[in-house]
Amino acid sequence: MTRAGVPSDAPMTPDPELERIRQRFDEAKGSIATIGDLEAVRNLFLNRTDGLANAAVKLIAGRPADERRAFGAAANALKRDIEATLAAREAELRATAPVAGVVDVTLPGRVPPVGRRHPLTRVRDRVEAIFTAMGYAVIDGPELEDEWHNFEALNMPAEHPARDMQDTLYLTSPVGASEGSRPATLLRTHTSGMQIRYMEAHRPPLRVIAPGRVYRRDNFDATHTPMFTQVEGLVVGEGITLGHLKGTLDAFAKRLFGADIRTRFRPSFFPYTEPSAELDVSCRACGGRGCALCKHTGWLEVLGCGMVHPAVFEAVGYDPNTYTGFAFGVGIERLALRFYGIDDIRMFYENDLRFLEQIDL
Ligand code: DAH
Repeated sequence: MTRAGVPSDAPMTPDPELERIRQRFDEAKGSIATIGDLEAVRNLFLNRTDGLANAAVKLIAGRPADERRAFGAAANALKRDIEATLAAREAELRATAPVAGVVDVTLPGRVPPVGRRHPLTRVRDRVEAIFTAMGYAVIDGPELEDEWHNFEALNMPAEHPARDMQDTLYLTSPVGASEGSRPATLLRTHTSGMQIRYMEAHRPPLRVIAPGRVYRRDNFDATHTPMFTQVEGLVVGEGITLGHLKGTLDAFAKRLFGADIRTRFRPSFFPYTEPSAELDVSCRACGGRGCALCKHTGWLEVLGCGMVHPAVFEAVGYDPNTYTGFAFGVGIERLALRFYGIDDIRMFYENDLRFLEQIDL
């Protein structure tokens, strides 16, 4: 069907070489399941240097002159076919399968769980904020303490009952024990020793709070823990009075618990203050009418306080005739129980997220 001497444009019988390539491609095409598979097949057939379809096109040169045109057309048609088939398959895969590296911007975001500050940290931060706003400095001191700072200088001599081994966790034998009379090391039972440490290193006037952990030989129950947190407060200067103490602590309680609460000072005893008092706030749960939380008294005990005892000033070398001051010690756990209306202190230490996640005040 060719005119003599004229190269034919008409399709010739399928070239066996091109047919083999087409067959191989048809097989390979059937096994494409992922974009990765697709890229491998594309490379095998369409790679610029040694892809099978390109190799076929290059065979043109080896054909007799009168077949070149037809062969070239068939080879290029095969190559375009392969390209088109792969492009269609790729579009299909990208439309259906999620592919690594391809971000679906329409999906809702995954929100990572965010941690939060512990309720005890929150209350401590509140206390610190209230006192720093009143001009107090925040100081820090050792949890391992000696008897001088924890007891002696606070007007608690060796025979004082609070120094008993039943209450205090000693690391070495306490003074007066059979082993001898070297000063003992202990885990501080309160932050009051920081009054001594600070006064030993500074001259009045001063206004500080000292937050930190304290330790006692207590069982772990709803109202006791062997380790808890206190904030000690100390103000010393000339002419500091009980009025300053009452005004300061009343303002503190109202800023923490709300302006509508009432406060009252009850006489009490601490060896390092004279006079000594305890501060109560009206129960927030019942507004002072009486409920289970306040044991039907309408009041919640909040902290201990008093005017610094002259013996304490003498221990640190301050002249008690020149200086007066007040001190207070507040338990953060107790404040937090009151603040959040909780009745079991252990909840602060169990790290139960169902509890902790409810508290973001
Ligand atoms: N140290 C006392 C305690 O652990 C609290 C305290 C009471 C501290 C009266 C003071 C104070 O500074 O004046 O319970």
